Amino acid sequence: MKKYDTQLFTLVKNERIADGIYDWTVTNDELPKLASCGQFANIKVPGRTLRRPISICDADENSLRLVFQVKGEGTRLMSEMKEGEQVEILAPLGHGFEIEKGKRYCLIGGGIGVPHMLFTAKQCENPLVITGFRNKELVILQDDFKNAGAELVLTTDDGSAGRHGFVTDVLSERLGEIDEVLACGPIPMLKAVAAVCKGKVRCQVSLEERMGCGIGACLVCACKQKPKGSEAFMSQVCRHGPVYDAEEVFFDE
Ligand SMILES: Cc1cc2nc3c(=O)[nH]c(=O)nc-3n(C[C@H](O)[C@H](O)[C@H](O)COP(=O)(O)OP(=O)(O)OC[C@H]3O[C@@H](n4cnc5c(N)ncnc54)[C@H](O)[C@@H]3O)c2cc1C
Ligand code: FES
Repeated sequence: MKKYDTQLFTLVKNERIADGIYDWTVTNDELPKLASCGQFANIKVPGRTLRRPISICDADENSLRLVFQVKGEGTRLMSEMKEGEQVEILAPLGHGFEIEKGKRYCLIGGGIGVPHMLFTAKQCENPLVITGFRNKELVILQDDFKNAGAELVLTTDDGSAGRHGFVTDVLSERLGEIDEVLACGPIPMLKAVAAVCKGKVRCQVSLEERMGCGIGACLVCACKQKPKGSEAFMSQVCRHGPVYDAEEVFFDE
């Protein structure tokens, strides 16, 4: 098994960007430059044994950007951490998106799956990015995607910002213009996106599964995978994923 060293990062920014949503920048001289899009970081929360996995929203030579929503005790404690504190982080982890030159990608993010797509958008040529949120209070990162040169479409379930409807409404209309789809968000959204793409364009999805170690040692994150031409097996989302070909996984809700 690959050797993983925990490294100390410095929390240099902790900003609330929407209700219950926080935007972190952490710095370290060695690890951020190794990150590729679709990978994640596993964060040690003081006083908690299990780490919390958060997608890499953006990365450069010496910093990672991590955007998270407060869900329970761990993320609440993270939201209260102070700029200047040291944080133990295992990163970059997992198998990210496969991107080929010359293809036009459609990137789809739903809710807190949207941050995952920013670093990805920066690796694609002229991507079409479709972001979906429940309502206008939860909309995040729109300027970041525009600054990354993406063609951006915003949808909200209640029509309070952008187009009224779901990301799949836009995807269905624009499918003929794109070569592949990359998606991250809630399972019902991923299922709907995969159904639109099936038999037409390849779709890669990033799955969220409860995790323990984050490095392939505890089997907490097992999900059933069936690669084309092979038998189904129990795959570890932290190691074989979180990104999978949508036609090779079984979506559990
Ligand atoms: C690969 C990956 C990437 C993720 N990226 C993001 C992101 O970019 N932004 C974001 O807001 N959230 C992300 N999540 C979800 C995030 O990890 C959980 O919301 C968080 O762990 C909840 O911890 P908690 O202590 O606040 O909640 P609690 O419910 O109190 O957590 C209790 C335990 O369950 C685990 N757990 C709970 N929900 C999840 C979950 N959905 N996934 C994994 N473990 C969970 C926690 O790690 C903890 O061990 C990601 C999850 C995965 C697997
Ligand atoms: S979280 Fe331990 S094996 Fe995946």
